Amino acid sequence: MALLKQIQQRYSVRSYQKRPVEKEKLETILQAARLAPSAKNIQEWRFIVVQDATTRKKLCVAANNQAFVGEAPVIIVCCSAISDYVMRCGHPAFPIDVAIAMEHMALQAVEEELGACWVGSFYEDQVKAILGIPAPVRVVELLTMGYPADAPRAKNRLPLEQIACHERWKF
Ligand SMILES: Cc1cc2nc3c(=O)[nH]c(=O)nc-3n(C[C@H](O)[C@H](O)[C@H](O)COP(=O)(O)O)c2cc1C
Repeated sequence: MALLKQIQQRYSVRSYQKRPVEKEKLETILQAARLAPSAKNIQEWRFIVVQDATTRKKLCVAANNQAFVGEAPVIIVCCSAISDYVMRCGHPAFPIDVAIAMEHMALQAVEEELGACWVGSFYEDQVKAILGIPAPVRVVELLTMGYPADAPRAKNRLPLEQIACHERWKF
């Protein structure tokens, strides 16, 4: 029940206070990522925690000039060091593995009274150039983080019966 409360409280925070995020809180959030499951336990995720103001401004430009990206005191650049492992089901593991770790972080951020926003609208080549990320590494997403300066919105979600059924495909 406690976890569902955090899940309900999480929303995409797109406005942040200037207040810096405590080192201990960031450490706890990264621990939440570290404990995530991954295909074959590869743990191919790599996280670059960016707090430097100049670098954040550059990442904001690389993220399609989304203003909140530059405003957030922390940007966690979520990468994959291995991108060629394809599971038996035919799907590459890395975006799934990194995404799970990211949502662990987003939920732990709620627990720490912080907020986060996933950012998929970015130019990977630009982000790699800014941070000196080697060519074979993939940048999966960015995660902005900080103390929220906005308020939660009502969740707009499909009803359960539209997204889940039992025993056979019934949609
Ligand atoms: C993979 C992914 C990529 C996203 N990329 C962006 C983005 O580039 N910019 C943005 O403002 N929000 C982005 N979002 C946030 C979604 O718009 C948001 O999660 C969705 O509208 C539901 O709202 P909520 O998170 O407040 O519940 C992204 C979310 C996900 C999961």
